[in-house]
Amino acid sequence: MSVTVRVPAKVNVQLAVGAARPDGFHDLANVFLAVGLYDEVTVTARQPGSGPRVTCEGPDAAQVPLDGTNLAVRAAEALAARHGISPDVHVHIAKDIPVAGGMAGGSADGAGALLACDALWGTRASRDELLDICAELGSDVPFSLVGGAALGTGRGEKLRTLETGGTFHWVFAMASRGLSTPAVFREFDRLAEGRDVPEPVASPDLLTALAKGDADALAAAVSNDLQPAALSLFPELADTLAAGRAAGALATLVSGSGPTTAFLVRDAESARKVAETLRTSGTCRSVRTASGPVAGATVL
Ligand code: C5P
Repeated sequence: MSVTVRVPAKVNVQLAVGAARPDGFHDLANVFLAVGLYDEVTVTARQPGSGPRVTCEGPDAAQVPLDGTNLAVRAAEALAARHGISPDVHVHIAKDIPVAGGMAGGSADGAGALLACDALWGTRASRDELLDICAELGSDVPFSLVGGAALGTGRGEKLRTLETGGTFHWVFAMASRGLSTPAVFREFDRLAEGRDVPEPVASPDLLTALAKGDADALAAAVSNDLQPAALSLFPELADTLAAGRAAGALATLVSGSGPTTAFLVRDAESARKVAETLRTSGTCRSVRTASGPVAGATVL
C-alpha cells in the first residue's frame, strides 16, 4: 500500500530577522506564502524491521541527501517513535522544488512524509501533534504542512494564518548553485556586528496588502533582511534581480535565505513575459512561474 502527498514551495514576502539568540537561532517575523511549485512524497510499506529508505527523482535529485539526514526520513522516524512502531517505509520524493534554494524544498518533504506516514500507518496524529513534530524537524516545516499564507514568529515555527484577498503571481529564477541556510544566517550575524538589530515585526502595510490581494501594495512592502547576506555570499544574484526589474517585475527579492530570486508580477501574462526575459538573460539556471496562496500538504 502507498500514500502520496503533494506539498508546495514557499516564498517569504517579508523576512524580518532579529539578533542571534543564545541558542544560535534568530527570532523572526516571517511572512510565508505557499506557491504552486510542488514536491510529491510517496510512502510505501516495507518489510517489518527493515527500517526507512529514501529515493528521489527530478532535475536536482543528485543533490538530495539519501541518508538519515533527509528530513523526510527524520519525519517518518519521529512519528514512528512517538507511536512505538518501526519506521519500515520507503519514501520516494518526486522533486520539483529547487534544492538548497530558499523555497523550503527540504521542509516540504518533511511535512509531506509526515502526513503520508500518518495516513499509511493509521496513527491518526492530531493536527497539533503533527505541527509539534514539524517544529522539531525545522523552522519552516510547520508552514509546509499548513500552506496558504501565514506569519511565523519565534524561529519561524509559531504560525498565525493570514487572510489573503486574491492570487499573487510570481516568477522564480533558480541559481547555478545552492546556498546553505546556516551560512546565510552566519553572514547576517557578521554584517550585523557592532550594530543594534531591532526586534523583528511584521509590516502592517504588508499584511493589509495580502488581505486585499493588492499586488502593487505588496510590491511596495516586501522585504528580506537576509538579502544583503545572500548577496554578500552570492554577488551574481544582483544581476538576476536587475534583469527581473528591467523586465518589468513589480518587486524583486531573494527568496528566504536564497539563492532563488523571486519576482512579483501583476498577472499570468506578465509572468510569462518576465520569465521569458529572465530565461534569455544569462543570469540564472532556470526559470519557473507559480502563483499563490495554495493549500499546504495534501494527501492525493
Ligand atoms: O530550523 P532549521 O533547521 O530550518 O534551520 C536551519 C538553520 O538556519 C539553523 O541551524 C540556523 O543556523 C538557521 N536559522 C536561524 N534562525 C531561524 C531559523 C534558522 O538562525 N529562525
